[in-house]
Amino acid sequence: MSSLSVFVLGAGPVAMALAGALTKVGHPPTGLWARRGEAAKRAGEFAGVPYVSGDWPDALREAEVILFAVRDDAIGALAKRLNNDGVLSSSQVLLHCAGSRSAESEFARLDVRGKGLLHPLRAIVSPAETIASIASTTFGVEGDEAGRRAAEGVVEVLGATFMALQSEQVAAYHAAAAIASNYLVGLLDLAEDVLSQAGIKGEAAQEAFVNLAQGALDNVRRSGIPGALTGPIRRGDSATVKAHMAALAIGPTENLDLYRALGQRSLALSRECGDAEEAKLQEISELLREPPSGDPPKS
Ligand SMILES: NC(=O)c1ccc[n+]([C@@H]2O[C@H](COP(=O)([O-])OP(=O)(O)OC[C@H]3O[C@@H](n4cnc5c(N)ncnc54)[C@H](OP(=O)(O)O)[C@@H]3O)[C@@H](O)[C@H]2O)c1
Repeated sequence: MSSLSVFVLGAGPVAMALAGALTKVGHPPTGLWARRGEAAKRAGEFAGVPYVSGDWPDALREAEVILFAVRDDAIGALAKRLNNDGVLSSSQVLLHCAGSRSAESEFARLDVRGKGLLHPLRAIVSPAETIASIASTTFGVEGDEAGRRAAEGVVEVLGATFMALQSEQVAAYHAAAAIASNYLVGLLDLAEDVLSQAGIKGEAAQEAFVNLAQGALDNVRRSGIPGALTGPIRRGDSATVKAHMAALAIGPTENLDLYRALGQRSLALSRECGDAEEAKLQEISELLREPPSGDPPKS
Protein backbone atom coordinates (compact mmCIF):
# COMPACT_ATOMS: atom_id res chain seq x y z
CA MET A 1 0.00 0.00 0.00
CA SER A 2 1.65 3.28 -1.12
CA SER A 3 -0.13 5.80 1.10
CA LEU A 4 -2.59 5.42 3.92
CA SER A 5 -4.44 8.39 5.38
CA VAL A 6 -5.67 7.28 8.81
CA PHE A 7 -6.98 9.52 11.60
CA VAL A 8 -7.16 7.98 15.09
CA LEU A 9 -9.87 8.76 17.66
CA GLY A 10 -8.97 7.95 21.27
CA ALA A 11 -5.95 8.08 23.55
CA GLY A 12 -6.12 4.78 25.40
CA PRO A 13 -3.70 1.85 25.10
CA VAL A 14 -5.13 0.68 21.74
CA ALA A 15 -5.07 4.15 20.13
CA MET A 16 -1.49 4.64 21.33
CA ALA A 17 -0.37 1.19 20.18
CA LEU A 18 -1.95 1.37 16.70
CA ALA A 19 -0.98 4.99 16.05
CA GLY A 20 2.57 4.30 17.28
CA ALA A 21 2.85 1.11 15.21
CA LEU A 22 1.69 2.93 12.05
CA THR A 23 4.27 5.64 12.68
CA LYS A 24 6.96 3.03 13.22
CA VAL A 25 6.29 1.34 9.86
CA GLY A 26 6.36 4.68 8.01
CA HIS A 27 2.60 5.32 7.74
CA PRO A 28 1.98 7.79 10.58
CA PRO A 29 -1.68 8.69 11.15
CA THR A 30 -2.51 12.21 9.94
CA GLY A 31 -3.77 13.05 13.42
CA LEU A 32 -5.13 11.84 16.74
CA TRP A 33 -8.11 13.25 18.63
CA ALA A 34 -9.16 12.66 22.22
CA ARG A 35 -11.74 14.44 24.32
CA ARG A 36 -9.25 15.40 27.03
CA GLY A 37 -6.37 17.64 25.99
CA GLU A 38 -3.87 16.11 28.36
CA ALA A 39 -4.64 12.54 27.18
CA ALA A 40 -4.43 13.63 23.52
CA LYS A 41 -1.02 15.20 24.18
CA ARG A 42 0.33 12.11 25.93
CA ALA A 43 -0.90 9.76 23.20
CA GLY A 44 0.10 12.02 20.30
CA GLU A 45 3.59 12.56 21.67
CA PHE A 46 4.00 8.86 22.35
CA ALA A 47 2.95 7.92 18.80
CA GLY A 48 4.66 10.81 17.03
CA VAL A 49 1.33 12.05 15.62
CA PRO A 50 -0.24 15.57 15.58
CA TYR A 51 -2.85 15.61 18.32
CA VAL A 52 -5.91 17.66 19.12
CA SER A 53 -8.88 17.80 21.49
CA GLY A 54 -11.98 19.93 21.30
CA ASP A 55 -12.90 21.12 17.79
CA TRP A 56 -12.67 18.69 14.89
CA PRO A 57 -9.52 19.34 12.84
CA ASP A 58 -9.32 19.48 9.02
CA ALA A 59 -7.18 16.33 9.04
CA LEU A 60 -10.20 14.43 10.39
CA ARG A 61 -12.46 15.71 7.58
CA GLU A 62 -9.77 14.83 5.01
CA ALA A 63 -8.84 11.36 6.32
CA GLU A 64 -9.61 8.38 4.10
CA VAL A 65 -9.90 6.12 7.15
CA ILE A 66 -11.13 7.10 10.62
CA LEU A 67 -10.11 4.61 13.29
CA PHE A 68 -12.34 4.63 16.40
CA ALA A 69 -10.13 3.39 19.27
CA VAL A 70 -12.42 4.62 22.05
CA ARG A 71 -14.36 2.78 24.75
CA ASP A 72 -16.83 0.31 23.20
CA ASP A 73 -19.91 2.15 24.46
CA ALA A 74 -18.66 5.48 23.08
CA ILE A 75 -18.16 4.37 19.44
CA GLY A 76 -21.74 4.69 18.16
CA ALA A 77 -22.43 8.03 19.87
CA LEU A 78 -19.11 9.50 18.71
CA ALA A 79 -19.79 8.44 15.11
CA LYS A 80 -23.26 10.02 15.26
CA ARG A 81 -21.76 13.20 16.68
CA LEU A 82 -19.23 13.41 13.85
CA ASN A 83 -22.03 12.84 11.35
CA ASN A 84 -24.28 15.53 12.90
CA ASP A 85 -21.35 17.96 12.88
CA GLY A 86 -20.87 17.36 9.12
CA VAL A 87 -17.40 15.89 9.56
CA LEU A 88 -18.07 12.59 7.79
CA SER A 89 -18.25 12.25 4.02
CA SER A 90 -19.20 9.52 1.58
CA SER A 91 -15.54 9.06 0.64
CA GLN A 92 -14.49 7.93 4.11
CA VAL A 93 -14.16 4.51 5.69
CA LEU A 94 -14.92 4.09 9.41
CA LEU A 95 -13.15 1.36 11.40
CA HIS A 96 -13.58 0.46 15.06
CA CYS A 97 -11.66 -1.86 17.40
CA ALA A 98 -14.44 -3.38 19.57
CA GLY A 99 -14.04 -7.10 18.89
CA SER A 100 -17.51 -8.15 20.06
CA ARG A 101 -19.41 -5.71 17.81
CA SER A 102 -19.92 -5.77 14.06
CA ALA A 103 -19.13 -2.66 12.02
CA GLU A 104 -22.76 -2.20 11.01
CA SER A 105 -23.98 -2.36 14.61
CA GLU A 106 -21.83 0.66 15.53
CA PHE A 107 -22.03 2.66 12.29
CA ALA A 108 -25.65 1.96 11.28
CA ARG A 109 -27.33 4.49 8.97
CA LEU A 110 -24.15 6.48 8.32
CA ASP A 111 -23.55 7.37 4.69
CA VAL A 112 -19.88 6.57 4.30
CA ARG A 113 -17.84 4.57 1.77
CA GLY A 114 -17.14 1.70 4.12
CA LYS A 115 -17.55 0.36 7.64
CA GLY A 116 -15.22 -2.16 9.23
CA LEU A 117 -13.95 -3.83 12.39
CA LEU A 118 -10.19 -3.90 12.99
CA HIS A 119 -9.65 -5.82 16.23
CA PRO A 120 -6.14 -6.52 17.53
CA LEU A 121 -6.22 -10.02 19.00
CA ARG A 122 -3.93 -9.04 21.85
CA ALA A 123 -4.29 -8.04 25.51
CA ILE A 124 -2.98 -4.48 25.26
CA VAL A 125 -1.66 -3.13 28.52
CA SER A 126 1.63 -1.66 27.35
CA PRO A 127 1.41 0.17 23.98
CA ALA A 128 5.22 -0.04 23.62
CA GLU A 129 5.20 -3.85 23.98
CA THR A 130 2.31 -4.12 21.52
CA ILE A 131 4.22 -2.04 18.96
CA ALA A 132 7.26 -4.28 19.38
CA SER A 133 5.17 -7.39 18.69
CA ILE A 134 2.78 -5.94 16.12
CA ALA A 135 4.03 -8.16 13.27
CA SER A 136 3.05 -11.28 15.24
CA THR A 137 -0.42 -9.91 15.97
CA THR A 138 -3.55 -11.23 14.28
CA PHE A 139 -6.40 -8.78 13.70
CA GLY A 140 -10.05 -9.80 13.49
CA VAL A 141 -11.46 -8.07 10.41
CA GLU A 142 -15.13 -7.70 9.50
CA GLY A 143 -17.32 -5.27 7.60
CA ASP A 144 -18.61 -4.35 4.18
CA GLU A 145 -16.28 -4.68 1.23
CA ALA A 146 -14.66 -1.23 1.50
CA GLY A 147 -14.44 -1.57 5.29
CA ARG A 148 -12.74 -4.95 5.07
CA ARG A 149 -10.34 -3.72 2.39
CA ALA A 150 -9.35 -0.69 4.49
CA ALA A 151 -8.87 -2.83 7.61
CA GLU A 152 -6.79 -5.35 5.63
CA GLY A 153 -4.75 -2.43 4.26
CA VAL A 154 -3.87 -1.31 7.78
CA VAL A 155 -2.95 -4.89 8.71
CA GLU A 156 -0.80 -5.17 5.60
CA VAL A 157 1.25 -2.03 6.31
CA LEU A 158 1.76 -3.22 9.89
CA GLY A 159 3.17 -6.50 8.54
CA ALA A 160 0.60 -8.37 10.65
CA THR A 161 -2.01 -10.98 9.72
CA PHE A 162 -5.80 -10.97 9.81
CA MET A 163 -8.67 -13.34 10.44
CA ALA A 164 -11.69 -12.64 8.22
CA LEU A 165 -14.98 -12.69 10.14
CA GLN A 166 -18.66 -12.57 9.20
CA SER A 167 -20.82 -10.23 11.29
CA GLU A 168 -22.67 -13.17 12.87
CA GLN A 169 -19.33 -14.69 14.00
CA VAL A 170 -18.06 -11.62 15.83
CA ALA A 171 -19.58 -12.30 19.27
CA ALA A 172 -18.31 -15.92 19.36
CA TYR A 173 -14.89 -14.82 18.10
CA HIS A 174 -14.68 -12.30 20.96
CA ALA A 175 -15.93 -14.84 23.53
CA ALA A 176 -13.16 -17.21 22.40
CA ALA A 177 -10.62 -14.37 22.67
CA ALA A 178 -11.80 -13.61 26.21
CA ILE A 179 -11.47 -17.29 27.18
CA ALA A 180 -7.94 -17.58 25.73
CA SER A 181 -6.73 -14.33 27.25
CA ASN A 182 -8.82 -12.92 30.12
CA TYR A 183 -9.79 -16.33 31.49
CA LEU A 184 -6.16 -17.42 31.43
CA VAL A 185 -5.51 -14.66 33.95
CA GLY A 186 -8.50 -15.91 35.97
CA LEU A 187 -7.12 -19.44 35.81
CA LEU A 188 -3.75 -18.34 37.21
CA ASP A 189 -5.59 -16.47 39.95
CA LEU A 190 -7.40 -19.71 40.77
CA ALA A 191 -4.07 -21.58 40.93
CA GLU A 192 -2.73 -18.88 43.26
CA ASP A 193 -5.81 -19.16 45.44
CA VAL A 194 -5.43 -22.93 45.74
CA LEU A 195 -1.78 -22.47 46.71
CA SER A 196 -2.62 -19.82 49.24
CA GLN A 197 -5.34 -22.02 50.82
CA ALA A 198 -2.48 -24.41 51.56
CA GLY A 199 -0.35 -21.59 53.00
CA ILE A 200 1.97 -21.15 49.99
CA LYS A 201 2.21 -17.46 49.06
CA GLY A 202 4.53 -14.91 47.54
CA GLU A 203 5.99 -13.61 44.30
CA ALA A 204 8.29 -16.60 43.80
CA ALA A 205 5.28 -18.91 43.69
CA GLN A 206 3.54 -16.64 41.17
CA GLU A 207 6.65 -16.52 39.00
CA ALA A 208 6.95 -20.33 39.14
CA PHE A 209 3.34 -20.78 38.04
CA VAL A 210 3.60 -18.21 35.23
CA ASN A 211 6.63 -20.16 33.96
CA LEU A 212 4.62 -23.37 34.21
CA ALA A 213 1.76 -21.86 32.19
CA GLN A 214 4.20 -20.41 29.66
CA GLY A 215 5.70 -23.87 29.17
CA ALA A 216 2.24 -25.35 28.60
CA LEU A 217 1.53 -22.65 25.99
CA ASP A 218 4.84 -23.41 24.28
CA ASN A 219 3.85 -27.09 24.20
CA VAL A 220 0.50 -26.21 22.59
CA ARG A 221 2.34 -24.22 19.93
CA ARG A 222 4.71 -27.16 19.28
CA SER A 223 2.41 -30.15 19.67
CA GLY A 224 -1.12 -28.74 19.32
CA ILE A 225 -4.24 -29.93 21.16
CA PRO A 226 -4.63 -32.60 22.50
CA GLY A 227 -0.93 -33.49 22.05
CA ALA A 228 0.26 -30.83 24.51
CA LEU A 229 -1.86 -32.17 27.38
CA THR A 230 0.12 -33.66 30.27
CA GLY A 231 -0.82 -34.58 33.85
CA PRO A 232 -2.78 -37.12 35.88
CA ILE A 233 -5.97 -37.08 33.83
CA ARG A 234 -4.12 -37.93 30.61
CA ARG A 235 -2.33 -40.73 32.49
CA GLY A 236 -5.61 -42.07 33.89
CA ASP A 237 -4.36 -41.51 37.47
CA SER A 238 -7.60 -41.39 39.45
CA ALA A 239 -5.86 -41.51 42.86
CA THR A 240 -4.13 -38.19 42.14
CA VAL A 241 -7.37 -36.58 40.92
CA LYS A 242 -9.04 -37.76 44.15
CA ALA A 243 -6.20 -36.21 46.21
CA HIS A 244 -6.51 -32.92 44.29
CA MET A 245 -10.22 -32.78 44.98
CA ALA A 246 -9.74 -33.44 48.68
CA ALA A 247 -7.18 -30.59 48.81
CA LEU A 248 -9.53 -28.22 46.97
CA ALA A 249 -12.46 -29.12 49.22
CA ILE A 250 -10.97 -26.99 52.02
CA GLY A 251 -11.38 -23.85 49.85
CA PRO A 252 -14.42 -22.15 48.32
CA THR A 253 -16.79 -24.44 46.40
CA GLU A 254 -16.21 -22.37 43.22
CA ASN A 255 -12.61 -23.66 43.14
CA LEU A 256 -13.77 -27.27 43.18
CA ASP A 257 -16.53 -26.51 40.63
CA LEU A 258 -13.96 -25.03 38.24
CA TYR A 259 -11.63 -28.01 38.80
CA ARG A 260 -14.49 -30.36 37.91
CA ALA A 261 -15.52 -28.42 34.80
CA LEU A 262 -12.01 -28.01 33.42
CA GLY A 263 -11.21 -31.60 34.42
CA GLN A 264 -14.09 -32.80 32.22
CA ARG A 265 -12.53 -30.87 29.35
CA SER A 266 -9.14 -32.51 30.02
CA LEU A 267 -10.86 -35.89 30.25
CA ALA A 268 -12.31 -35.52 26.76
CA LEU A 269 -8.85 -34.57 25.46
CA SER A 270 -7.30 -37.53 27.30
CA ARG A 271 -9.70 -39.88 25.49
CA GLU A 272 -8.49 -38.38 22.20
CA CYS A 273 -4.86 -38.94 23.28
CA GLY A 274 -5.69 -42.60 23.94
CA ASP A 275 -2.86 -43.25 26.47
CA ALA A 276 -5.01 -44.34 29.43
CA GLU A 277 -7.33 -47.32 29.78
CA GLU A 278 -10.99 -46.39 29.39
CA ALA A 279 -11.82 -47.95 32.80
CA LYS A 280 -9.38 -45.52 34.48
CA LEU A 281 -10.83 -42.56 32.62
CA GLN A 282 -14.30 -43.69 33.63
CA GLU A 283 -13.23 -43.65 37.31
CA ILE A 284 -12.01 -40.07 36.84
CA SER A 285 -15.25 -39.14 35.12
CA GLU A 286 -17.17 -40.38 38.18
CA LEU A 287 -14.94 -38.33 40.52
CA LEU A 288 -15.37 -35.19 38.46
CA ARG A 289 -19.13 -35.53 38.12
CA GLU A 290 -21.11 -32.84 39.91
CA PRO A 291 -22.35 -34.28 43.25
CA PRO A 292 -26.14 -34.19 43.75
CA SER A 293 -26.88 -30.89 45.54
CA GLY A 294 -26.33 -31.08 49.28
CA ASP A 295 -23.81 -33.94 49.07
CA PRO A 296 -20.27 -33.19 50.26
CA PRO A 297 -17.53 -33.74 47.63
CA LYS A 298 -15.96 -37.22 47.56
CA SER A 299 -12.68 -37.50 49.38
N1 LIG B 1 -7.13 -3.06 25.65
C1 LIG B 1 -7.19 -4.16 24.94
O1 LIG B 1 -6.55 -5.15 25.25
C2 LIG B 1 -8.00 -4.19 23.66
C3 LIG B 1 -7.68 -5.18 22.71
C4 LIG B 1 -8.38 -5.19 21.53
C5 LIG B 1 -9.37 -4.25 21.29
N2 LIG B 1 -9.69 -3.33 22.23
C6 LIG B 1 -10.72 -2.32 21.90
O2 LIG B 1 -10.06 -1.11 21.54
C7 LIG B 1 -10.89 0.01 21.92
C8 LIG B 1 -10.09 0.93 22.81
O3 LIG B 1 -9.72 0.23 23.96
P1 LIG B 1 -8.64 0.75 25.03
O4 LIG B 1 -8.30 -0.44 25.86
O5 LIG B 1 -7.58 1.53 24.36
O6 LIG B 1 -9.31 1.76 25.99
P2 LIG B 1 -10.76 2.14 26.42
O7 LIG B 1 -10.74 2.32 27.85
O8 LIG B 1 -11.74 1.16 25.87
O9 LIG B 1 -10.91 3.54 25.67
C9 LIG B 1 -10.14 4.61 26.09
C10 LIG B 1 -10.39 5.83 25.24
O10 LIG B 1 -11.78 6.03 24.98
C11 LIG B 1 -12.08 7.40 25.23
N3 LIG B 1 -13.49 7.61 25.52
C12 LIG B 1 -14.23 7.03 26.49
N4 LIG B 1 -15.50 7.51 26.44
C13 LIG B 1 -15.53 8.40 25.42
C14 LIG B 1 -16.54 9.24 24.88
N5 LIG B 1 -17.79 9.21 25.35
N6 LIG B 1 -16.22 10.04 23.82
C15 LIG B 1 -14.96 10.07 23.33
N7 LIG B 1 -13.96 9.31 23.81
C16 LIG B 1 -14.26 8.48 24.83
C17 LIG B 1 -11.21 7.72 26.42
O11 LIG B 1 -11.13 9.10 26.58
P3 LIG B 1 -10.88 9.74 28.06
O12 LIG B 1 -9.43 9.50 28.33
O13 LIG B 1 -11.25 11.16 27.87
O14 LIG B 1 -11.79 8.98 28.98
C18 LIG B 1 -9.89 7.06 25.98
O15 LIG B 1 -9.20 7.89 25.06
C19 LIG B 1 -12.13 -0.58 22.56
O16 LIG B 1 -13.12 -0.71 21.57
C20 LIG B 1 -11.66 -1.96 23.02
O17 LIG B 1 -12.71 -2.90 23.12
C21 LIG B 1 -9.01 -3.26 23.42
